[in-house]
Amino acid sequence: MKWSQRYYLFFCKLVNQSNFKSMKYNLSEINEIIRNRRTIFPEQFSERKVHKEIIINLLENARWAPNHGMTQPWYFKIFYREGISKFIEFHSQNINEKFTEEKFEKLKSRAEKSSAIIAIGLRRQVSEKIPEVEEVEAVACAVQNMFLTATAHGIAFYWGTGGLTYSEEMKIFLGLKEKDKCLGLIFLGYPAVEWPKGQRRPVEYFSEWVE
Ligand SMILES: Cc1cc2nc3c(=O)[nH]c(=O)nc-3n(C[C@H](O)[C@H](O)[C@H](O)COP(=O)(O)O)c2cc1C
Repeated sequence: MKWSQRYYLFFCKLVNQSNFKSMKYNLSEINEIIRNRRTIFPEQFSERKVHKEIIINLLENARWAPNHGMTQPWYFKIFYREGISKFIEFHSQNINEKFTEEKFEKLKSRAEKSSAIIAIGLRRQVSEKIPEVEEVEAVACAVQNMFLTATAHGIAFYWGTGGLTYSEEMKIFLGLKEKDKCLGLIFLGYPAVEWPKGQRRPVEYFSEWVE
């Protein structure tokens, strides 16, 4: 038996034992949501549209992410319905040697397949006392909250950082200030495909115990 399997069996045994008796929540559901969270690309989206209420639910959960100094540095701009055309228009006006016509066409077709595109922003603390990396981490935690919530809704979610994500033009388009950053774009839809399976290295590969 592999070590990963042994760990898993041991873990299952523990769940049924006293150490986990004080659990307030359903551990098997949270385990499933975390492990089944999968990137699903817009090419795999169906025609079904995601309702605004669900997107609001993602945003509501985003704001509960941990953050140092309560700077709550996340900012999300949601392109929805006509907003998606505005998103495409902005990209069409910024084709260049790096963001080529071909890349634009791919992004356009991804945008058209999406119910909403959420630009992920980092609003930098004005005093800059908290290290920038910690604000990036807080925003990433907020995105993970959204990702897991989307998974619970059965919504397809893709976090991409290609195209104009890190450009000055994008920053201006999103209304961000000089020290702020765009950290990616989320494409939302419903999957037209079977929920993908993922794989990861086992725990012993990336952890060491000191006892
Ligand atoms: C910060 C960040 C940026 C990403 N940017 C891209 C990207 O530009 N293109 C892409 O194909 N996938 C991108 N991904 C998605 C990863 O490819 C995906 O998470 C990875 O393949 C693992 O698959 P999973 O999300 O289904 O577990 C990004 C993920 C993260 C966290």
